[in-house]
Amino acid sequence: MRRLKRGDQLVVATHNPGKVWEISKLLEPYGLHAVAAGEFGLEEPEETETTFVGNAKLKAVFAAESTGLPALADDSGIEIDALDGAPGVYTADWAGPNRDFSIAMERVNEEMVARDGWKDPAPRANFISVLCLAWPDGSTELFEGKVYGHIEWPPRGTNGFGYDPIFVADGETLTFGEMEPAKKYAISHRTRAFESFKRACLEGA
Ligand code: IMP
Repeated sequence: MRRLKRGDQLVVATHNPGKVWEISKLLEPYGLHAVAAGEFGLEEPEETETTFVGNAKLKAVFAAESTGLPALADDSGIEIDALDGAPGVYTADWAGPNRDFSIAMERVNEEMVARDGWKDPAPRANFISVLCLAWPDGSTELFEGKVYGHIEWPPRGTNGFGYDPIFVADGETLTFGEMEPAKKYAISHRTRAFESFKRACLEGA
């Protein structure tokens, strides 16, 4: 498998500032020069696939082919057991066109109320991240990470992004929104996917 080495440029193929921050932090120790897709003026491709793998590939391949550089994309979401895994691959869509995650979390609450899902004191949920590394020739490598826990209502905390204020990881009492960012990314789904990515693709890891 080809590897990335210190000093190589890597496009972080996302327009989500929370993800750019977390992925750049994870890459920092390896001396890669991480550049967000937005800095190349790339549009965000429409996520037309119905799986995390499909959408991660689509975003990474688009960025790698457009820039001629290797690109790393994340497709992620939250899966809530009482909602049969929803919002899942549609996690971002639940936030509407303005990506307002207070709306998304309200929708979770409404759907949980409609299904009597809150009666379980700790309704099971997990975050999932699929990372895709794409090379400019279109070849790809895929890595998956999950963090399990439960959701709570009402939302708590202003750290992180997305659904962080309603998710509590197993063994924790604070939501991801209340945790120090360093603590969250030590255990997050994205970090777990990143561990596999770095073992396979980063020189010196
Ligand atoms: P996408 O991967 O761009 O389709 O968007 C995934 C969505 O999942 C994000 O917009 C977030 O709302 C949510 N999400 C992914 N990772 C996290 C996380 O670490 N915390 C909170 N929400 C997340």
